[in-house]
Amino acid sequence: NIYAVIMAGGRGERFWPRSRNARPKQLQKLLGDRTMLEMTASRLQPLVPPERILVVTNRDYAGQIRSVLPEVPPENIIGEPAARDTGPCVALAAALVAARGGADAVMLTLPADHAIEQAGQLRAVLKDAAELAATRPGWLFTIGVNPTEPATGYGYIHCGGALETGTGTRFFRGLGFKEKPDAATAERFLAAGCYRWNSGMFIWQVRSLMQAFERYAPQLAGLFRDVLEMERRNALETELPERFVKEPRISIDYAVMEKAENVGVAECRFDWDDLGSWPALRNHLKPDSDGNLADGLFAGVDCRNLIVSGRPSHLVAAIGVEDLVIVETEDATLVCRADQAQRIKELLKLADSRP
Ligand code: GDD
Ligand code: MG
Repeated sequence: NIYAVIMAGGRGERFWPRSRNARPKQLQKLLGDRTMLEMTASRLQPLVPPERILVVTNRDYAGQIRSVLPEVPPENIIGEPAARDTGPCVALAAALVAARGGADAVMLTLPADHAIEQAGQLRAVLKDAAELAATRPGWLFTIGVNPTEPATGYGYIHCGGALETGTGTRFFRGLGFKEKPDAATAERFLAAGCYRWNSGMFIWQVRSLMQAFERYAPQLAGLFRDVLEMERRNALETELPERFVKEPRISIDYAVMEKAENVGVAECRFDWDDLGSWPALRNHLKPDSDGNLADGLFAGVDCRNLIVSGRPSHLVAAIGVEDLVIVETEDATLVCRADQAQRIKELLKLADSRP
């Protein structure tokens, strides 16, 4: 009785200008010939058949998602009328899972845009976590990644002793959760050695999640109940938009994970990368002998360590430059020092660079 919910409504701004509003990161083919979302859904096979995969996204992307995931029933692609972050997304999805599979159903809650190559290992961890979620009412599970730098864009989980589980995957008790700490706190967590990054993948029984909502996020419990009731009356399509926009923006990490008590953390037994920005492509794609990674037409003279994302019909040419990200699209071009690619968010605050 396992369902997967893929959260696919983010905009992935750090891949601008490739990820314009109309084509967010999860719908980009950053790592080959399939979109990040297709890769996410196919990694789940055969653990979760397509009929039990739900994709929650912004309604602007729903059509594109139905066409890249033809094997997922179209009614399983749910469009939100507005972006409210992952808290409301998860509450909405949980209600739909409850309507189909009941409160006992286990719901794998997954981001749409991460790079994970060892799909078999991922499925093994998800399967073990799903088994625990089904048998330990009230517990919430996540997958914890060993941190390698004091990144401030992740949640950190303070891990305690091992849980006795009898599964192939090791689990730790979560003692605390801090979403996106400031730099000094992240340094301290890294030095302490007992913190893991939250991978953003959650495994919980619908009932346990509902209990957590009741206790820590009553607003989301209200949304869950309202959606469940709409779904039972077959009124979702007409009534959801007006109801959903009333939700405040909040991520599941702040709404639930920072407050939750019974948290189990699975050891991440596979390479994980949330592919946060252009330079992260280096960890996955093979550059040419000058260190250049180019997608699309590119000609370089004396260029080193460039990341070029272009088009098959438009030549990007460069001479004598190093360590740059160059992204060329139909209506916007980015040139940026690779070590400053995190600052794209600042750029997007300038009104006229908005798509
Ligand atoms: N449906 C829907 N609606 N999906 C959304 C929305 C929304 O409003 N906002 C974001 N998402 C989707 C994104 O597309 C992505 O797949 C996933 O939810 C996570 O959202 P991000 O916005 O990428 O979160 P984050 O990267 O800042 O932080 C989360 O992931 C980190 C690991 O990558 C947190 O869970 C952190 O704790 C975690 O470390
Ligand atoms: Mg993310």
